[in-house]
Amino acid sequence: MSLLMFGSLLTTGTALVSANESKPGMNSSKLLNVAHRGASGHAPEHTIPSYRLGEEMKGDYIEVDLQMTKDGKLIAMHDETVDRTTNGTGLVKDYTLEQIKTLDAGSWFNEKYPEKADPAYEGIQVPTLEEIIQTFGTGARYYIETKSPDVYPGMEKELLRILNKYNLTGVNERSSKVLIQSFSKESLLKMHNLNPNLPLIQLISYKEPASISEDELQELSEYAVGVGMSASKIDKTYVQNVRNAGLLIHPYTVNDKKEMKRLLDWGVTGMFTNYPDRLNDVLHGK
Ligand code: G3P
Ligand code: CA
Repeated sequence: MSLLMFGSLLTTGTALVSANESKPGMNSSKLLNVAHRGASGHAPEHTIPSYRLGEEMKGDYIEVDLQMTKDGKLIAMHDETVDRTTNGTGLVKDYTLEQIKTLDAGSWFNEKYPEKADPAYEGIQVPTLEEIIQTFGTGARYYIETKSPDVYPGMEKELLRILNKYNLTGVNERSSKVLIQSFSKESLLKMHNLNPNLPLIQLISYKEPASISEDELQELSEYAVGVGMSASKIDKTYVQNVRNAGLLIHPYTVNDKKEMKRLLDWGVTGMFTNYPDRLNDVLHGK
């Protein structure tokens, strides 16, 4: 795969780690517990209850996938269609926010996972990015993915407008309250051009066991501070190569404690999980 390379600001050096001790996203010694779509193993993904559980379960970041409505509002949803995670049908881009707000984003979970069902999930709404930030505030950290950016012209500009409005970008990479992720290099470069200080994570999709070259790492280092990829595609050598290049590495989506431990042994700097409670246990030796 043609890759890039990135950001030069992070190294594994102890001096830098020490300087960034209170900044999880920038501190390579802080192992990040990323609540994937919230604590989505316990509650309906990308809803306020799921994000709240993620916080309660000690997730360091709330992961938010973004889609954009017909009237240009950024909402939290993984899919381009509303079909899987609401009681509606069709493409997000064909809905206004007002229409999206009429949908039930929780009952599907109760039906699919009766053992985890909670009446409180019935009828809950799809949150906008702004509502999420207003709910969890600037004390929280957000790991935000631009989904399908080719479908949503202007999504990066709108995202940055919101980050600026709520002062989430910080004055530099180290103080940012957000990590911005995407499978789209083009989308990340748009964000980079809008604000070169934003810490960016390049997501990489591998069809086969992953390898990464020096050239790719160099290219990535020019704009990103880290990479994310399926945990099932990597091995210890891959992790070491990324770390030796001074980049963060956050595999997804890791729900099994043994796999969490193996990845930590290999040297990953965090991971996405639907069960931040399990990862918290592992990080505390349980
Ligand atoms: O963003 C990391 C991981 O979430 C990427 O996969 O499909 O769950 O967004 P996906
Ligand atoms: Ca995601």
